[in-house]
This record gives sequence, C-alpha cells and structure tokens, in this order.
Amino acid sequence: MRPSVKELLGVDAAGQEVIVKGWVRTKRQTKSAAFVEVNDGSCMANIQCVFDAETAGKPEIASTLEKVSTGASVSVEGTLVPSPAAGQKAELRATGLQVIGEAPPDAYPLQKKAHSLEFLREIAHLRPRTNTFGAVARVRNRMAFAVHQFFQERGFSYIHTPIITASDAEGAGAMFQVTTLDLEKVASSGAVDYGYDFFGKPAFLTVSGQLNVETYCQALGRVYTFGPTFRAENSNTTRHLSEFWMIEPEVAFAGIEDNIDLARDFIHYLVQTALRDCAEDLAFFDARIQPGLIESLKSVASGSFSRMTYTEAVAELEKHKGVFEFKPYWGCDLQSEHEKFLTEKVVGGPLVVTDYPKDIKAFYMKQNDDEKTVAAMDVLVPRFGEIIGGSEREWRLPLLQKRIADMGLNLDSYWWYLDLRRFGSTPHAGFGLGFERLLLYVTGMTNIRDVIPFPRAPKLADF
Ligand code: 4AD
Ligand code: MG
Repeated sequence: MRPSVKELLGVDAAGQEVIVKGWVRTKRQTKSAAFVEVNDGSCMANIQCVFDAETAGKPEIASTLEKVSTGASVSVEGTLVPSPAAGQKAELRATGLQVIGEAPPDAYPLQKKAHSLEFLREIAHLRPRTNTFGAVARVRNRMAFAVHQFFQERGFSYIHTPIITASDAEGAGAMFQVTTLDLEKVASSGAVDYGYDFFGKPAFLTVSGQLNVETYCQALGRVYTFGPTFRAENSNTTRHLSEFWMIEPEVAFAGIEDNIDLARDFIHYLVQTALRDCAEDLAFFDARIQPGLIESLKSVASGSFSRMTYTEAVAELEKHKGVFEFKPYWGCDLQSEHEKFLTEKVVGGPLVVTDYPKDIKAFYMKQNDDEKTVAAMDVLVPRFGEIIGGSEREWRLPLLQKRIADMGLNLDSYWWYLDLRRFGSTPHAGFGLGFERLLLYVTGMTNIRDVIPFPRAPKLADF
C-alpha cells in the first residue's frame, strides 16, 4: 500500500520518490513557489508539497494548480526531502500534480480556519475533515481497540449481546420500541394486537447488554460486551445521547471491591494508552480545546481514586447546600452539579461513590444488610460527573424476586435471568463505562455530540 502521510513524516527524508494522496487544507502561491498542504487523515499533521517556480510554471501544472482549493482531493508526486521549516520533519518537493475531485470554493463549507462546533454539527458528514474531528475520530478508534486489548490481556471473552430485546435491563422504561406494525392502521383500528407484530410481543432496542452478558458470565467467568445501547429519555444535555456505546464487563465470583479495582485499572489503562499513542492529537486538544488536559490526564493515569459512600457524599454536599440549584438530601439522585462539586472541589480527581439508596438504583443490584442501600459503585470524574455505573449483582433468588416485584416489574419476563440464580448462582459484579463519556474525558471535548460520528438525541437523527 502507498505510505500514508503519517508514515512519510515518520521516516528519514532522503529524496525518496513518493506519491501523496489526500485532501488540500491550504494553498499558497508566491512568485518563487506554490505550497499545497495535504492532509490524508492518518495524523493531525499535513504534508507540505512545494512546487518551485520552474515546476509551478509548467503549463499543465499551472493549470492544475488553479483547480486546487481547500477540500479538493489531489495526488502529488515528488521527492521526500528534509524540511527547512520549523515544526515539520519532511516535505515533498513536488514534480507532478493531479486534482482527483475539485471542491469549488464558493460552495465548499469548510473554508475558514476555525468553524464553531455548533456549525460543524450541522455538517456532520464533512466535519471529520477538520483538525478537531479528525483527532476525535483517531482517539475514538484507539480507545475502542484499547478496550479490547485491556480485556483480552486479562482473559475476558467478548460476548455479542443482542440489540433487540424484550426485557428492560435497567427497569427504567426509557426504551425505543421496535415494531413492524403499521402504526396508521393500528391507530385507525383503535387497538394493538402484538400477535401480529414481528416478534409476536412488544420488543425494544436494548438499554444495556448487562442481563444477557450475565448469562455468559455464569459460564465463562470473565466476560464483557461492547456495543451500542439506546435510551429514549428526553435528556437534552451535553452528557446524554439517545444512542451511545457502552462497555460492560462482568466477573463471576467477584465482589464490589474487585469491581472497583477493575474499573480503576481499566481507566488507568485507557488514559495511559491515550497519552502514549495519541500524543499528537492530545497536544491539539490541550492547546485548542481544554488547556491543562494532558497534565490532568497524567495525574489520573496511575493515581488512586478517592472513595466515599453515598451517605458520606450527601453529608459533604449538605455542608454546601447553598451552592446548588438542586438541594441535596439523603435519598436524592446525585445531580451532575453535585458530582462535579465532589470531584472538582472536594477530592480534586476521580471519585468512587458506593452504597447508594436502593430506591434510586436498578433492581439487579445486591442489597446491603442495612436494607436501605445496595452494593453499587459509580465512578465520577471532574467536568461532567458519572463515567461508570456498576454494582455487585443480587445473586440470591428470593431477594431478587422480591425486588423485581416491589419495583412493579413483570417477573415473568425475567424468567431466564432468574434461572441464573436458580442454577449454580454465584456472587458476581460488573459495570458499564459509557464510551462517549470516556472520550469526553480523554479529549477534553465538552459536548457528547462531538465525540460520536453521528449523534442521536431528541429531535436529532440526521445523517
Ligand atoms: O449507569 P448506567 O445506566 O448502567 C448500566 O446501564 C448498567 N447496566 C451497567 C452495568 O453495570 N453493566 O450506564 C452506564 C454508563 C454511565 O455511567 C454513563 O457513562 C453511560 O453509561 N451512559 C450514557 N452515556 C451517554 N448517553 C446516555 N444517555 C447515557 N446513559 C448512561
Ligand atoms: Mg448510572
């Protein structure tokens, strides 16, 4: 394969004959030379293609240079030479040029050096060609691979859990329904008969792969799933998507402390990988998006995570009641403002909060002996709060049955999940890391819609 710009910039430039293909970022022409900066997405850096006066003056090259504008795709032939300019190792002394696809300047939207992130959201099909979104895409790719590396190195099996499901994994009811019924006919008939629906009963897009992955946990021991999940909550925030990717490990014969250790090691591994392998992109985020990003990532790359129980966290928040829009009290769901306060002002870094009240957590969490709290663990980080939610699971059949019934959920639809507690039940634990929240954390981007290629949110499903 033809070497990428990243590969070309990584070798010692010694007059190698090469062909570069990519998209033009800028063109500059002076009397003595023409400069075309080409980016091929392999890295943040462009390769500078220099046409000296003699080359640029050749009729076929001069007429081709006229068609070169920002966004055009080109093929440039030349020799790789050390660059006299500071900040780049090599440049291309160009001898040939072809425009493959023009990008007429009066119509191509990405002309300015810096466009607002809001504007770029409206052209999600073109934004990967900007520095910011190219960098996000490369970091996202590296982090996805690191997720698999981390678990594979530790003997976990990757399980593909279903996307269409009949059970509500979080028991919270915020699900998208999947149907082949003709809704207009249903409306005119005045009644729904699910017997005629594709699956013969109501079906939904999954909110979490956890319940399914638990079945394989109870056979393979250490498992994880990593896939898209869907939530139909009407949350129009910078932290919520309707479609997001989640990583969910599950470990048999494990308790809450094992779970916390795994979550911490996982975050350490991901942050260390980003610092090591995405250095150029992180330097960009540090300079343009989130000053201090690299310093703060370095401090979490191997540091300990602070710990608090929910009860301690609320006691801490109650000392500062006045600063919150939503007054904290024991039993309340921690708001993002509370989570930010705890991580930014109280502990100054990642914080693991454990033992939440059972009434604000999902039915599957293991009940503590106090009968008020569950063995839950959320990992909170500065800037946006919750990044991981997890728990030890209720593995005692009668307690789980009672909890499902008390929460008004349909016991029958969880029959197979309950079977796991009937046959060879084990204490086990797991968690979910929101992949886009991780990317917010690692890139310093502030809106979750900017770390997924095509965001889905209420009233937003374009592209
Ligand atoms: O805390 P949650 O709801 O936990 C679960 O789904 C469990 N089944 C996980 C498990 O124990 N296996 O979600 C887990 C994480 C959150 O901490 C957050 O990072 C992310 O998923 N998340 C979202 N990310 C983007 N948009 C949303 N609407 C999200 N909801 C949750
Ligand atoms: Mg949660």
